[in-house]
Amino acid sequence: MSFELKIDALLGRMTLVEKVGQMCQLAIFIPDLEDRIRQGHAGSIICSNSPTPGNTPQDPVLALQLNEYQRLAVEESRLGIPILFGRDVLHGYKTVGPIPLGQAATWNPEIIESVARVTACEASADGINLNFAPVIDIARDPRWGRIAEGFGEDPHLCSVLAQAAVRGYQGEDLTDPATVLACAKHFAGYGAVEGGRDYNGTEIAATTLRNIYLPPFWAAVRAGVGAIMSGFHDIGGIPMSAHRELVAGILKEEWGFEGFVISDWAAIDEMRQHGVAETRADCALISALAGLDMDMASEVYIDELAALVETNQLAEAVIDDAVRRVLRAKFRLGLFDQPYTDVKRASLHLSPDHRQVVRKAAEQSLVLLKNDGILPLAKSDLTVGVFGPLANARKTLCGAWNLDGHEDSVLSILDAVRDKVGANVEILATDLVDDALKIAPRCDVVIAVVGEGIARSGENNCITTLDLPPGHQAFLEALHAIQVPTAAIVLAGRPLALEWADRNLSAILMVWHPGTEGAKAITDTLFGDHNPSGKSPVTFPRNVGQVPLHYNHRPTGRPLPRNDRRHSRYADAPDSPLYPFGYGLSYSTFEYRNLHITVTAPRAVSISAEITNTSSTAGDEIAQLYIRDVVASISRPVKELKGFSRLSLKPGETQTVVFQLTQDDLSFYNQSGHLSFEPGLFKVWVGPDSNTGLAGQFELK
Ligand code: BGC
Repeated sequence: MSFELKIDALLGRMTLVEKVGQMCQLAIFIPDLEDRIRQGHAGSIICSNSPTPGNTPQDPVLALQLNEYQRLAVEESRLGIPILFGRDVLHGYKTVGPIPLGQAATWNPEIIESVARVTACEASADGINLNFAPVIDIARDPRWGRIAEGFGEDPHLCSVLAQAAVRGYQGEDLTDPATVLACAKHFAGYGAVEGGRDYNGTEIAATTLRNIYLPPFWAAVRAGVGAIMSGFHDIGGIPMSAHRELVAGILKEEWGFEGFVISDWAAIDEMRQHGVAETRADCALISALAGLDMDMASEVYIDELAALVETNQLAEAVIDDAVRRVLRAKFRLGLFDQPYTDVKRASLHLSPDHRQVVRKAAEQSLVLLKNDGILPLAKSDLTVGVFGPLANARKTLCGAWNLDGHEDSVLSILDAVRDKVGANVEILATDLVDDALKIAPRCDVVIAVVGEGIARSGENNCITTLDLPPGHQAFLEALHAIQVPTAAIVLAGRPLALEWADRNLSAILMVWHPGTEGAKAITDTLFGDHNPSGKSPVTFPRNVGQVPLHYNHRPTGRPLPRNDRRHSRYADAPDSPLYPFGYGLSYSTFEYRNLHITVTAPRAVSISAEITNTSSTAGDEIAQLYIRDVVASISRPVKELKGFSRLSLKPGETQTVVFQLTQDDLSFYNQSGHLSFEPGLFKVWVGPDSNTGLAGQFELK
C-alpha cells in the first residue's frame, strides 16, 4: 500500500485531538512529557537539552532516553504513532565539522555532503531523526551573528551547497537508519534582519526575495528536503508565522513542496508580540491558515486548534493536510516499521573515519587572506611563539551553535603545533599576554591566535563593530611594535574588519570555527603539509560602516570613474571591500589564460579557460564564473556567480575549465515574479575571485 493510502487509513481513525497532536512539537524538558506522549500530543519532541553527561561520548544516554519515549508512543498511546525527535545538529554531532560558513569556504559540495552524512550517522545513532539543518539564509550583514550558521552571501553557491547538505542528511533512502530528515531554515529572508540584529524585521523587495533569498530554498525543495522551518522575522510587517503568500503560496502551491513546515521556537505565539494577533487562538488560526504544519514549543496548536475547528472557524481539511505532511515524513523515515534506534550504533561517535571527514573539511575551509611569504613555516631550525587569547581554546573551535561536541575530543591550536613539530622546532608559549610580549623577541615568528569566542558569534550574538575584540587587537599591535614577524590565525563566525592586520602583519589565516579536527588542519597548513585552497563565501568589509557590502550589488546610476565626486561612494573610506567574495590565496600561484566563449544554442553558451599552476607547489584552485546581464527590464547585479570548479594542479600543470550555461542560468525573476529570459548582451568573467579574472562577452538574440 502506498504511503498516501496508509495515511488516509490512519487519518480516518484519528480523533481531532490526535490529529492536532501530530502538529505539536513539545520541548523535551516539560514536566508532564510522558503523559502527553501517552495522550498522543507529541507528534514531535524537540531535544533542546544539553547532552546528558555519560562516561564517554559513545555512551548511548540520549539514545536510551529517546527509545523509552518512543516506546511510550508506540505501545502506550492509542494509535501507536511514532515520534519525530528533532535537534539542532548544524555541522556535526560528537564529531564536529567547521561551522557552515567555514564549510562554504571549501566551495566543495562533496565535502558538505560528507560532513552531513557523518552528522546524520552520529545523530541518528542517538535517536534523532529530524535535524534542524541546513541553514540556507543568504547573509549580507556580518553584524548578524547567525551569518556563521549559513553558507554565505551568494545564492548560487548557497543553493549548490544546500542540495549537497540535504543529500548528506537524507541519503538515498530515509529508511536507512543512518539518515535524518533535513529541515532547511529559516524561511525566508531571515538574513536581512535590519541592522544585523537578530529576530528583527526585514524589508525585502519582491524582486530581491525571488532572486536572492528564495533560490536556496527552491534548490532544497528540488533536492527533496523533508521539512522547512519558517523564521522569527517579518517581511514588511508580516511575520513568517503569518506569511500565507510565502508559505502556503510560493512554497507549497507554486513549488509543490510535500514536506511539512515547522515554526521556529515559540514563533507562533510570538505573533502577539509582533502585534498581529491578540490571543493565542488568533495565533493558531493565523499560522494554520498561513501553512505552518507544526508548532515548535509554544503549544498554541494543541491548546487552540481543535476548538477553532469545532466552532467552524477553521476547516478540518487544513488540519488534515498538515497531519498528512507530518505522517508522510514518518513513513518516509520508516518509523512505523523501525521506530527505535540501535543503541550500539553510538559506538561510532568520533570514529577515526568520521574524524577524517571533518579534518578534510577543515583543511579546505581555511582561507589564506594574506601571506608575504612567511608561510609555510620551515620544520627545522626555527623558534616559533604560539600566543594569543585563543591559542589554548578548545570548545571555541566547535562554534557557537554546537550542542554536542565534547571539549575533551578537541585539540587546541597550541597542542596541535606541539604535537606536529619534532625537536627541530622550538615552541614557546604562555597564557599571559605580558609574558608573551617578553618572550616574543626570541622568536623567529609568532603565531598569534585571535578572534571571536563563541559568546560573540551565532544566534542573538550580533555586534556593532567588526573589529577584533579590543584585547586581541591590542595584543597584535604590541607584537607589531616589537617587530617580530607575525602570522595571525583568526577564529571567527563572521568576516571581521582586518584592515590593520592586513597592513601590518606578515600573514592572516582565516580559520572560522573549524571543528574537532580544526587545530590539526591549521597546523598542517602552517607547516606546509597542506596547501590552503579555501575561498571566502562572504565579502570582507574594511569597516563596519560599509555593511551591508556584497559583491553582487546592483549598479547605481553613477558608476563613474572613482575619482569623480559624483560617483556613488563614501567620503571617508574606499567603497571597495578589504577582500572580495571568492578571495583566498594558496602557496601555489595560478595563471588564467585563453578565455573562449561559444554560443552553442540560441539560449546556451559554453565558456572555457586554461588555468596553469605557475609555481613549484601542487595546489587546488577554485575557478569561478561570473556574468552580468547588461541591460534588462530590472537592473541586474554587476556580477553574479554562475559556476565554479575545483582543480587540482601539479607544478607547471595546465587544465581547462569548462562551464555550460543554459537558459535558466541566464534568467531572473522579473517585476511580475516570473522567471524570465531576456536576450541581449552578457558580460563574462572567469577568475580566482569576484574582483579579477579574464573578461569577455556574448550576445543572445
Ligand atoms: C533557532 C532555530 C533552532 C531552534 C531550536 C531557535 O532559537 O532560531 O534555528 O532550530 O531555536 O533550537
